[in-house]
Amino acid sequence: MPVATKTALTLRPATPADAAVCGQICYDAFAHISAQHNFPCDLPSAEVAAGFMTMLFSTPGFYGVVAELDGRVVGSNVLEERAIIAGIGPITVDPTAQNAGVGRRLMLDVIDRARSRNAAGIRLVQAAFHNRSLSLYASLGFDVREPLSCIQGTPRQRSVAGCAVRLATPADLDACNALSHRVHGFDRGADLAHSTQRGTALVVERAGRITGYSSHLGFFGHTTCESNQDLQALLASVDSYGGPGILLPSRNTEMLRWCLAQGLRVTQPMTLMSIGLYNEPRGAWLPSITF
Ligand SMILES: CC(C)(COP(=O)(O)OP(=O)(O)OC[C@H]1O[C@@H](n2cnc3c(N)ncnc32)[C@H](O)[C@@H]1OP(=O)(O)O)[C@@H](O)C(=O)NCCC(=O)NCCS
Repeated sequence: MPVATKTALTLRPATPADAAVCGQICYDAFAHISAQHNFPCDLPSAEVAAGFMTMLFSTPGFYGVVAELDGRVVGSNVLEERAIIAGIGPITVDPTAQNAGVGRRLMLDVIDRARSRNAAGIRLVQAAFHNRSLSLYASLGFDVREPLSCIQGTPRQRSVAGCAVRLATPADLDACNALSHRVHGFDRGADLAHSTQRGTALVVERAGRITGYSSHLGFFGHTTCESNQDLQALLASVDSYGGPGILLPSRNTEMLRWCLAQGLRVTQPMTLMSIGLYNEPRGAWLPSITF
């Protein structure tokens, strides 16, 4: 006669000591789902994923949570808490433990956390080919906001007339944050200050003032501009984009066609989703893989 087994799922805050196990799970989970759909994995290796988790589990402004099933770590989730809008991800569950409610518990935990800290809204970026994550997020109350195209390559054009691109400095932060308020209704000042310190942030100037900025041109950075011209100047200024690529709102078809004319390639479709405050952006912009 089979012996009934009872499993106990518990959640606890993540620590840097969890990074190796969670990094392995993160890599396995993304590699598994991407391979099923014949897409390249978003992460090159478990080691890179572990390094990413170490950063997320040890940097102020990020909250990590780990799920344990009978004492074994089976997944994790992260909430970015550096702006009035909170961002979720990466959430990953060990492929051997998926589709059994772990992901839902990890999502509910960070949603509760964001609400308890009075976030005005919560956002995430979802792999559009992943039926399960779309269904999970929609059933938790997330609205589809924007179809995104992940884009990679080297642009043919290397500058845009009338636009000057340079590294951002701390003196630019006020102008960049004011621009973000005009376009999105809130700023991401802490993120931008950190990126400026790390030397990844860029600004574009047109007619003597800052008309666009990027915390990092790639998967992990966000970009906010007044116009497509400013966004083109930023995209033209580098040889390639970080990680799998930039995330372009596909409804910005003028920009999508510009990217295609530059010889850039679409690598995968993604979807921006949100709960709570969402202002339709008034400008040209790229979300990060968080929001
Ligand atoms: C996405 C992920 C975190 C979800 O975790 P999980 O433990 O597998 O998910 P859960 O079992 O808690 O929830 C899945 C839900 O989707 C539902 N679902 C699954 N496939 C579905 C489908 N095709 N249509 C409708 N609903 C579906 C399940 O029934 C379940 O709903 P329920 O909570 O109402 O029962 C996990 O699958 C994962 O790690 N995937 C790979 C990495 C990834 O894509 N991460 C997310 C990046 S956006």
